[in-house]
Amino acid sequence: MGGGVAEVTARSGLATVVREVSPEAAERSRSGIERSLGRALDRGKIDEATHQAILDNLTFTTELSDLSDCDLVVEAVIESFDLKAEIFAELDAIVTSPDAILATNTSSIPIIDIAMATDRPDHVVGLHFFNPAPVMALVEVIPSVRTDPSVTEQVTAFATDVLGKTVVAAKDRAGFVVNMLLVPYLLGAMRMFEDGHATAEDIDTGMTLGAGHPMGPLTLSDLIGLDTMLLVGETLQAEYGDPAYAPPALLRRMVAGGHLGRKTGRGFYDYS
Ligand code: 3HC
Repeated sequence: MGGGVAEVTARSGLATVVREVSPEAAERSRSGIERSLGRALDRGKIDEATHQAILDNLTFTTELSDLSDCDLVVEAVIESFDLKAEIFAELDAIVTSPDAILATNTSSIPIIDIAMATDRPDHVVGLHFFNPAPVMALVEVIPSVRTDPSVTEQVTAFATDVLGKTVVAAKDRAGFVVNMLLVPYLLGAMRMFEDGHATAEDIDTGMTLGAGHPMGPLTLSDLIGLDTMLLVGETLQAEYGDPAYAPPALLRRMVAGGHLGRKTGRGFYDYS
């Protein structure tokens, strides 16, 4: 997800620093972006000069301190509140400009909880991209009760005018707009599969050909990542207490077994 967001900003002509946790992760991130840009080049969507210019906009690092000069930081670590809080506290100490905006790409964690890990909660906002970020046209902008309205305006203008995305404004409630509707549907498909209602292929074909979705729910869950699906389901259930958000046992077992979807080569489908 972070790589996808970095590709979006680099394609929009912005100098982009990608911070990953290890050199190996940085290399994976770089090669993922290069693959995606290579596809765009092959399909004639961008020319060679643009391809090179986008690559030149990107710097990869493992040091959080390399983000010190950034005007906007988009955090996209896993859906763990403790980890996000730790990172925002560090960013607060590192990012020098008092006008810099610290955004989180969280899918479901309250923005205010993340904001309060800093001494500048007025400059913290939710900026939620969708997977794959370079393709999906939507971004959700989520101010917390402490976000300065001018910060919300700035990121909204940034997402529309600079990144070319369509913005929907959402309240700081778990799941915002899209995941509040999408997640119970995806978890419902997993329950159907778990109960032996139909095969994975037939559930997915049902929704692509019968409801016109670009991907079936199990394929989409594999794309999002089953670990993310589990964490988002848990957060939504904690907030609303609705059993529709309860992650099915099968999802828990798959995550425990390392079947996280496309990124590990195995989820509801085998990608090896
Ligand atoms: N990165 C960059 N570009 C990609 C890509 C990726 N990972 N995957 C596909 N693309 C590009 C292709 O290069 C192609 O570009 P082009 O039209 O310029 O040539 C275009 O997307 C279409 O790709 P394909 O022809 O290969 O395949 P499809 O037509 O099947 O489209 C899809 C692929 C866009 C992924 C489509 O299946 C889709 O829209 N699926 C649903 C995705 C979705 O619902 N995402 C939201 C998930 S929820 C979420 O992210 C929130 C989180 O908080 C949980």
